Amino acid sequence: MEKLKIIGGRTLFGSLEVQGAKNSVLPILAASILIDGESRIRNCPALKDVDAAIQILRHLGCKVSRFDNDVYIDATTLSKNDIPETLMREMRSSVIFLGAILGRTGEAILSMPGGCELGPRPIDLHLSALRSLGAEIEERNGKIYCKAGALHGGELNLDSPSVGATENAMLAASCAEGETVITNAAREPEIEDLQNFLRRSGVRIKGAGSSTILVEGGGRHDLSHEIIPDRIAAATYLAAVAAAGGKIQLRNIVPSHIKTVTDALQEAGCAFDIGASELIMHANKPLKAISPIITRPYPGFPTDAQPPLLASVLCGVGTTVFVENIFENRYRYVDELTRMGANIRIEGRVAMVTGVKRLRGAHVGATDLRGGAALVVAALGAEGESLISELHHIDRGYDGLETVLRSLGAEIVRIEDLE
Ligand code: EPZ
Repeated sequence: MEKLKIIGGRTLFGSLEVQGAKNSVLPILAASILIDGESRIRNCPALKDVDAAIQILRHLGCKVSRFDNDVYIDATTLSKNDIPETLMREMRSSVIFLGAILGRTGEAILSMPGGCELGPRPIDLHLSALRSLGAEIEERNGKIYCKAGALHGGELNLDSPSVGATENAMLAASCAEGETVITNAAREPEIEDLQNFLRRSGVRIKGAGSSTILVEGGGRHDLSHEIIPDRIAAATYLAAVAAAGGKIQLRNIVPSHIKTVTDALQEAGCAFDIGASELIMHANKPLKAISPIITRPYPGFPTDAQPPLLASVLCGVGTTVFVENIFENRYRYVDELTRMGANIRIEGRVAMVTGVKRLRGAHVGATDLRGGAALVVAALGAEGESLISELHHIDRGYDGLETVLRSLGAEIVRIEDLE
């Protein structure tokens, strides 16, 4: 079994270019189905979730090729409208293909996405959004059968600002007859990136980044698009240097996308020099406790940055409170951190982290993508050796995590452990 072997206690110094955003490239790969021609997607990270999305596109009949960080999709040969269970199980967020397949072909058959490590992952908001555009949807035997003779525009209000449901609504509405107004839409930067991809293809759409998105449709010709930087990967590398101490320069970022994270680390005692598309952070241990970190939809503190940030303050001075409002079960990684000697008390959505003098390296297992990243952050700040297993979780969302960290001076290597 592959494991990461980390010898903690080294301070980290260096500069890195942040990968393209996983949560932007996935809906944009789905959107390429709508393009009656070729999409060129640049700055695409090498991730297991991207591999899974490309497998789905090929299953549907699209031609997909990849050269380094550029992916080319020709959707003119699309011939299917179903995603088999095996591919759905590969990646829970495959539900994001639903709106695009339905919009392009008028029909879509998907198996219900399995739950995942973060708790139940309902898709009721996705389905009600598509029904508002005229889709007839039936759920039976664990599958979702969607039909839409012709999708029609309309008023579409989301009960909660779901990122995926907003994206599915945008993609289906791009193919609908007439105008669609999406209200209470998610405002994440990845939503704006999806809008920019669609606009480059000629779709008339505006408002992404606000709670109201207007979609008139049209277009869908060849285009080329560069994926925005991954704000969660950026937050993870900052958390790693904050935990270990040192100095890092992040290049190719959008500082405003991670303001809640840099504000929190500044309060913890890190010093920042922030430019237009890069930043420098100095971190001297120990960190100070931070005022409560409460996860919210963007522009609030991002739920995906909660695990790495929590791991960065484990040896801080004082107690930091975290409140996880987005997912029901996003603290499963905490048990693994206590094996390193962390002092964390969980009460429902609240995690109380009281800093300890030191953490000890331990054998731990990743429970999910960002929880796995938290274990890496903690191991870098711990004394001694840690072994981290279940790396498939981490490989879903980080492009060469150990290579990047090694370039900063971390003692980290991927080994094959026979245990
Ligand atoms: C996206 O997931 C991201 N994934 C997640 O990142 C991220 O944590 C999440 O948005 C919130 O920002 C991708 O973009 C691929 P939601 P998504 O729909 O779209 C509930 C990572 O680590 N909900 O905004 O699934 C849901 O259960 C991943 O990179 C419903 O109740 O998130 C959750 O509690 C993890 N019904 C909350 O809303 C629905 O129909 C937020 O979900 C849909 C969602």
